[in-house]
Amino acid sequence: MTDELFSGPVHSTARSRVEMTHHVLPEFANSLGNVFGGQVVSWIDICAAIAAQRHCRSVVVTASIDAVQFMLPIKLGHIVIMRGQVNATFKTSMECGVAVWSEHPITGEVRKAMKAYATFVALDDYGKPRAVPPLLLQTDDDRRRSAAAVVRRADRLRVRPAE
Ligand SMILES: CC(C)(COP(=O)(O)OP(=O)(O)OC[C@H]1O[C@@H](n2cnc3c(N)ncnc32)[C@H](O)[C@@H]1OP(=O)(O)O)[C@@H](O)C(=O)NCCC(=O)NCCS
Repeated sequence: MTDELFSGPVHSTARSRVEMTHHVLPEFANSLGNVFGGQVVSWIDICAAIAAQRHCRSVVVTASIDAVQFMLPIKLGHIVIMRGQVNATFKTSMECGVAVWSEHPITGEVRKAMKAYATFVALDDYGKPRAVPPLLLQTDDDRRRSAAAVVRRADRLRVRPAE
């Protein structure tokens, strides 16, 4: 699909936005009948990677996933809704935020279950970090998310392991 949202010159947060839906099948559940946490983290990684790629249209790699919060268990048979977007861009990296909701398949009740932040680095044809387009901050929400991402970036780079 190419339309102005995805190929236009303005790299807004809307350009990167992703929504994904999963059904919690038995193969994704643990012995308590809830979705296995690592499974949702894997879905979060994919959701955030798509957001990053929609922003920069490059190959990207996950540099880190942090601040993973499990707020509620997600039950077998429930519907998992994930929404991700680029929160902030730096030189070659981008922070993506992903929020996860659990939808009851019968009642339709939707509750926020998880959130996490993932940082992706764009790579050039030689596998080296390459500059990403700046993010256009159009709304108060955009500016709030970006400012919070700047603070989180400082924290995560402070604890980045030395080689
Ligand atoms: C992530 C990676 C590309 C960084 O490469 P590097 O040679 O260390 O590059 P640099 O030190 O120049 O950093 C490049 C960018 O990564 C960011 N970065 C590096 N480590 C990071 C971390 N742990 N968390 C967040 N950002 C990080 C830097 O801040 C920099 O961003 P900026 O240019 O916007 O300031 C490299 O470590 C790598 O390839 N890691 C493995 C990735 C992977 O296999 N992921 C899982 C599968 S996709």
